[in-house]
Amino acid sequence: MSQDDKVGDDGRLVVAINGGPRKNWNTFLLLEEALRGASDAGARTLRYDLFEMNFKGCVSCFYCKTKENYHKGKCAQKDDLAPVLKTLKDATGLVMGSPIYLSDVTGSLRNFWERYVFQNIIYSNTEQSVLERGPGMGVIYTMNIPEDMMPVMNYDILLSSHFYFLERLNPPILEQICSCDTLQFNDYDKYYAPMFNSEAKKRSRELEFPGDLHKAYELGFRLGQVKEKQRIRNA
Ligand SMILES: Cc1cc2nc3c(=O)[nH]c(=O)nc-3n(C[C@H](O)[C@H](O)[C@H](O)COP(=O)(O)O)c2cc1C
Repeated sequence: MSQDDKVGDDGRLVVAINGGPRKNWNTFLLLEEALRGASDAGARTLRYDLFEMNFKGCVSCFYCKTKENYHKGKCAQKDDLAPVLKTLKDATGLVMGSPIYLSDVTGSLRNFWERYVFQNIIYSNTEQSVLERGPGMGVIYTMNIPEDMMPVMNYDILLSSHFYFLERLNPPILEQICSCDTLQFNDYDKYYAPMFNSEAKKRSRELEFPGDLHKAYELGFRLGQVKEKQRIRNA
């Protein structure tokens, strides 16, 4: 966990959930840039690195759907994610990032979503979520494929499905950013990967990645500007 204590706390808190394993690589750098934007907008920031935490996805205990507890939006599992889910109740902004692994986000971000999103969903046709108003949200994806391959690989459908379930939490902002054609290795000569052109990858890193960092900063800044707190339904 990293924390930014520089900024005075007026209640704005932007939390980054890092669903990638590599520190200082694409996903991490984009999330950090989003947090820099949020901090510049005046919000306090926190980052949680899911790969350093011990937790599972949803175990279908359905505590969060019981008649006594469904309105609390609370997961019953007690593990490293429990304090994160508690902190997220106070977040005004939430930025999540993941590399694409086998055409989806990493298992870690998926497990986080199963816990965070599912605890807040109500099984009702009239009320979608415990949250009448959720935190502002952003998702940052990084991937090997170039942007024009995204529809060919059905990644547009993948992102729509993520958008659909995150939207149920009523975020005032919900944005997705894709950083495509990322640099995967520092030295392509060391690896057997003939499908990649190392020079093209380096060019993409020099020419495209700075633009992605800028988009992440701007997203973080917008999330940092969200002032209104989350609202629990009927609370
Ligand atoms: C296990 C694994 C599976 C991957 N699967 C895909 C994939 O399906 N599509 C894709 O575009 N990139 C895939 N990649 C590449 C990563 O998404 C890409 O390199 C990403 O930018 C890595 O993020 P990082 O630099 O933050 O670690 C995969 C990488 C790994 C390690």
